[in-house]
Amino acid sequence: MPGRSKHDGPPRATNRERVNSLSATGFARAFRVRSSWGSTGKASGTRSYYINKALALLIVALPTMDAFQEVALASEPAASAEQSALAIDSASGLLAARQPHNFLGARSCAASACHGGIDPDPRFPLSRRNEYVTWLDKDPHSRSYQTLNNELSKAILDRLSRPTDDDATRANRLANCFGCHNPQPEPSRRGETYFTRDSVSCEICHGPAEQWIGPHVTASWSQLKGSGEAVRLGFVKTLEIATRAETCAACHVGSPGREVNHDLIAAGHPALKFELTAYYAMLPKHWRDEDERKANPQLELALWQAGQLACGEAAVELLKWRADRAAGENVDAIWPEFAEYDCYACHHDLVHPSWRQASATSSAPLGMPAWGSWYFSRLSESSSESLHSLADAMQRSFRPDPKLVLDAAKSVRLTAPSINGAIGDPTSWDDATQQYLALVATEQSLTDAGIAGPTEVKSTITRLREQLAFPAGHDSPKRLFESGNANVTRAQVHQSLLELMQQLQQRRGN
Ligand code: HEC
Ligand code: HEC
Ligand code: HEC
Ligand code: HEC
Repeated sequence: MPGRSKHDGPPRATNRERVNSLSATGFARAFRVRSSWGSTGKASGTRSYYINKALALLIVALPTMDAFQEVALASEPAASAEQSALAIDSASGLLAARQPHNFLGARSCAASACHGGIDPDPRFPLSRRNEYVTWLDKDPHSRSYQTLNNELSKAILDRLSRPTDDDATRANRLANCFGCHNPQPEPSRRGETYFTRDSVSCEICHGPAEQWIGPHVTASWSQLKGSGEAVRLGFVKTLEIATRAETCAACHVGSPGREVNHDLIAAGHPALKFELTAYYAMLPKHWRDEDERKANPQLELALWQAGQLACGEAAVELLKWRADRAAGENVDAIWPEFAEYDCYACHHDLVHPSWRQASATSSAPLGMPAWGSWYFSRLSESSSESLHSLADAMQRSFRPDPKLVLDAAKSVRLTAPSINGAIGDPTSWDDATQQYLALVATEQSLTDAGIAGPTEVKSTITRLREQLAFPAGHDSPKRLFESGNANVTRAQVHQSLLELMQQLQQRRGN
């Protein structure tokens, strides 16, 4: 069995290399907003000087993760009936699971005859039997706890800290990190094999196992899943696409009590711009992905659609939580949250003559950043009426009325967008990128269905990716789209999107 110390070693590097291939994967890597850190978490260039200096000065003030564990683990979350297995109790930062069953820890899945085999075993119909090893060796989710101890995390926490912080403030900040990087159930719900540093482990996605671990190795398991009994035992049906998407969105978009807000981003945390198919492609699969695609060539489209919906819903829930706190005059509430707006509406160059004045197509008035440009880009087509008043409330002024926003958010009803939804003149980089990802998902589903087509598809995808990629050394597009040395106009990007769409239509018609 490989040791846990393998984190950050070669498996991780291999992981990262996969993302250079030509697919949504490569794209996600290319556009990901992050600071100038390598995948090892080591600083590069001048930043490292400042960080080392900051570390040297402030290290004394840093609370250790162990100290945090004692603080957070001592408090008990209030039980909430309607929350899913993944929800976080926002007061305590602990998992507020719907079912009262205990968590057993990843080790309880790791026996070699269960999920801890070295190689996939083709003899079994329901599992490859090496899921634990795949997760441990290749999946970034098995190392997300360790990430909180790396240099970047320390730098983020340093930059967030204020001289006036008390222990409770520091503990809350770390509880927020733990909510995604190492979610914890309350102490009374930890079984004997439970380990408090398992990162994002099996039960976080599959549900607390105490009650279902026995039945799931019996012949009646399929029946229990079908009848809903499995869910009552605490099992999360990730086989259902909607559930799968909601599972990822809970952390990758955020949820009440765990958020990557603009403070965290400004301090160096990668901005969370999640799109399910792009991240799905990057994740080393411990399940029979190829079999699933063979059986269902529409899988990629279903994932895309479920992802759009789940992300939109998670983003609305997060906004409701924020608005509610702001409306209640919570002194810690940040309002409005910058991370919900178009980053590059604020972070762009001022030049004369102004390209922005000349080509403003944003839904927000000139001078206000557009709200929801990432998560609602595609949903704004299918759910426009219900989103309209919310966007309007968020874009009316720099101090939107939280009560008005809360009411508008409560009446939002999202409808899944169509992947064939019109390709339009992109209103922002976010919008162009979401359009691109929808087309790439369409391409993947045609490939899964074994439908060959014009060879230009690949080169059009490459061209679009280059047009959307940030210039070297930047975490933002130059102007709207300007990659490398080339000036790319909005019209050119629009043209490439149209071409790709036509090529895919042609391919579908073949
Ligand atoms: C409990 C929270 C949580 C859930 C649920 C979750 N993730 Fe993650 N995910 C994380 C965290 C935290 C990281 C960062 C890991 C690190 O490097 O420390 C991450 C990293 C990743 C990465 C690597 C990204 C990169 O930059 O290399 C991918 C890909 C990914 N997740 C996909 C998914 C998918 C797909 C799902 C749903 C099936 C999912 N995640 C569910 C928390 C979560
Ligand atoms: C809402 C969930 C969430 C919260 C809260 C959160 N993170 Fe993350 N973190 C993620 C995800 C998801 C990723 C992967 C980012 C990606 O590639 O999209 C990540 C990535 C990181 C990375 C980069 C990892 C790498 O090697 O590339 C660091 C460092 C990090 N987080 C530290 C922290 C710290 C420190 C905190 C608390 C101050 C924190 N995170 C809070 C979800 C979260
Ligand atoms: C980030 C979320 C996540 C984590 C963590 C996770 N899984 Fe999964 N798992 C999934 C998804 C998504 C699927 C695919 C859908 C399905 O089959 O339910 C899956 C599928 C499976 C399957 C079915 C395999 C197949 O071929 O059909 C098994 C068994 C499994 N996981 C075991 C584990 C074990 C054991 C661990 C911990 C070592 C683990 N999972 C951790 C998300 C996760
Ligand atoms: C409403 C305007 C606004 C929006 C929207 C906005 N920011 Fe900022 N951002 C600021 C301001 C103001 C600062 C602080 C001044 C500065 O340092 O530039 C800042 C600082 C930062 C910093 C630290 C300073 C630096 O240059 O590294 C980063 C990183 C950052 N923002 C990223 C983002 C990302 C990513 C998004 C979108 C998720 C975003 N911002 C959305 C206004 C905004």
